[in-house]
Amino acid sequence: MSVLHAPLHLITGKGGVGKTTLAVGLAMEAARRGGRPIVVELGHRSSLAHVLRVAPERVTHAPFEVRSGVWASNVAIDAALLDYLARRVRSRAIARRIVESAPLATFFEAAPAVPELLALEHVQALLERFDPVIVDLDATGHALMFLELPRLLAELAPRGPIGELVRGLGALLTDRQTTRVHLVTLPLALPIEETLELYAALRARGTPLGSIVVNRRGHRPLAPTDDAIARALLERTEDAFDREALALALTDAASWDREERSLARLDATKLETVLLPDVALDADDRLSMESIAALGARAAEVLA
Ligand SMILES: Nc1ncnc2c1ncn2[C@@H]1O[C@H](COP(=O)(O)OP(=O)(O)O)[C@@H](O)[C@H]1O
Ligand SMILES: [Mg+2]
Repeated sequence: MSVLHAPLHLITGKGGVGKTTLAVGLAMEAARRGGRPIVVELGHRSSLAHVLRVAPERVTHAPFEVRSGVWASNVAIDAALLDYLARRVRSRAIARRIVESAPLATFFEAAPAVPELLALEHVQALLERFDPVIVDLDATGHALMFLELPRLLAELAPRGPIGELVRGLGALLTDRQTTRVHLVTLPLALPIEETLELYAALRARGTPLGSIVVNRRGHRPLAPTDDAIARALLERTEDAFDREALALALTDAASWDREERSLARLDATKLETVLLPDVALDADDRLSMESIAALGARAAEVLA
């Protein structure tokens, strides 16, 4: 039994909502629980290194222990293809020859979603060595492509070893025992609207959905019953400083209420919803590793 309920977690949602932070936080919590976590980033990015506060060259295709007990990998497609072939033909030199051969290149150019396919193959191989494997799917479009693979692959239906690979990977993405897809959002109307759209799209594809993580949910600055008192005070007070503080509290309370109404729309999904607090940033405008670990611990408590 995995320390996080399932061995494979895919984190998706719009840019800037906190996916990479959540992925790292969950990995830190999994390590604390005695698991062997790895965070996987797709493509040539370095947001993982940024959040982990390590040099970008530490996050490579080959898994590397970037922090105590937390491993990281950035999937490079050519390396993933070479790995895949090397596992099957047993000789890296022959694998390299195959990678460079024209017929194979033609197949991979013609097939849809090949980068995603190879990334998924890399993820599947990591599942033999790590638990949990947490994948940071960093753009909605990318996530949809990735999660649409089972359907694309079924249509492609190649025979032989490629067909075998393709069916195994399709099964991986639809198997609820193994895989959970989590949707991360901010508590604001537009991101929530987009989360509901993504939810509908993924549900229609038979994706095994986990939780909705609402990140950066603040506190209401006034108890709802104190709104009337604050308004009455605002009318009577002459002091400019007090007036400004009261007006600000009332405005913030009103936007918190708007967030609450937006959040209620998520109930329709029947998914578990995890609320994570808005945390103060460090002097360098980043979250401290302690804050990230605390967010991960909180999320892991509720994550379905
Ligand atoms: N709970 C939080 N409280 C405060 N800041 C946060 C929180 N979660 C994320 N952030 C900040 O928001 C920004 C975007 O987070 P990130 O994890 O990189 O998002 P994504 O991977 O979805 O683009 C970062 O600057 C991060 O430090
Ligand atoms: Mg990110």
